[in-house]
Amino acid sequence: AQAQKGAYPYYMLKEIDEQPGVMRNLIKEYIAADGSIKIDQDLLKEMSAADRLYIVAAGTSYHAGLVGKELFEKLVKVPTEVHVASEFGYNTPLLSKKPFFIFLTQSGETADSRQVLAQVNKDGYPSLTITNVMNSTLSREATYTLLLYAGPEIAVASTKAYTGQIALEAILAKALGVHNNVPTIKDFDVAGELTKAANGMQELVDEKSEIEKIAAALLKDTRNAFYIGRAMDYAIVQEAALKLKEVSYIQTEGFASGELKHGTIALIQENTPVIAIITDKRTAAHTRSNAQEVKARGANILYIASREVATPTDQIVLPEITPLLSALVAIVPAQLLAYYASIQRGYDVDKPRNLAKSVTVE
Ligand code: G6P
Repeated sequence: AQAQKGAYPYYMLKEIDEQPGVMRNLIKEYIAADGSIKIDQDLLKEMSAADRLYIVAAGTSYHAGLVGKELFEKLVKVPTEVHVASEFGYNTPLLSKKPFFIFLTQSGETADSRQVLAQVNKDGYPSLTITNVMNSTLSREATYTLLLYAGPEIAVASTKAYTGQIALEAILAKALGVHNNVPTIKDFDVAGELTKAANGMQELVDEKSEIEKIAAALLKDTRNAFYIGRAMDYAIVQEAALKLKEVSYIQTEGFASGELKHGTIALIQENTPVIAIITDKRTAAHTRSNAQEVKARGANILYIASREVATPTDQIVLPEITPLLSALVAIVPAQLLAYYASIQRGYDVDKPRNLAKSVTVE
């Protein structure tokens, strides 16, 4: 029944709307009433024996990995690298003594990731696949699997798998932190934060008609656009930009806001849309000043900011959540902007040209 569109015009909109439910499913599947995490102790033991985590993924899943790195490093203090699967095999980094591999993959079938896992198995390293598809190839071939329980994702552009992967990474980081006796881990109330995420996502999807209007005003006739942010917000804008470009064909870049002035600012013209995502107190002032620099050169700025760092003129204000998980709420307006920009241009948002849901060739 979940694979039916029902009253929705497109799967992508349905799947954006399902995200609060995905958060609740993950809480139900992985977190007991007493707050303890239901994850295989053998998996935690192997992860905790590792000196470094290597996250390998493609596309949107890679972007979920960028957030995962922050979670594992900040919450568990374990060094974590994130790699694009198609690069890893040919430009393999020097591995640590005891690596542990995490494959993030909605479908569990991406050839680029499968190729890396085959080598990892040959080398005898332990691995975990985080996937939405039970018994998928990457799930069968890895040492361990954790499922997303997000329900089938049909639209080519991934939405609920991204937020599901981030939420599950947070649950795993909590479990590993507890397992490793990291003193600060008790301050991270993962069930509470994911509940906040679910409620915040619901608030945002309930206001989708506002985003539809913003999309019409900001993105209507543009050929290009930029998303900017720093630190965690830089991880988020890379996914936000991919979403917009893949379904609307607006050439969009997700940029580290401080890096704009070192070249890319040359592309800013009268009315170029620049969307600033600001969820981090430490970087808010800097990103705002970078936005002012492009505004002075004619850019149209849209601010998407967390309540804590918002100013009264910011157009989209995000509900409260720990800054470590701000991606879960910040991505929702970006997904909706992409959806409406595509619809307003008359495209089939579920089936963008040249793209496949799962790419089984290298
Ligand atoms: C394809 C899809 C993307 C997806 C990527 C990785 O390119 O179009 O939406 O992010 O594959 O897929 P996976 O199933 O491994 O997450």
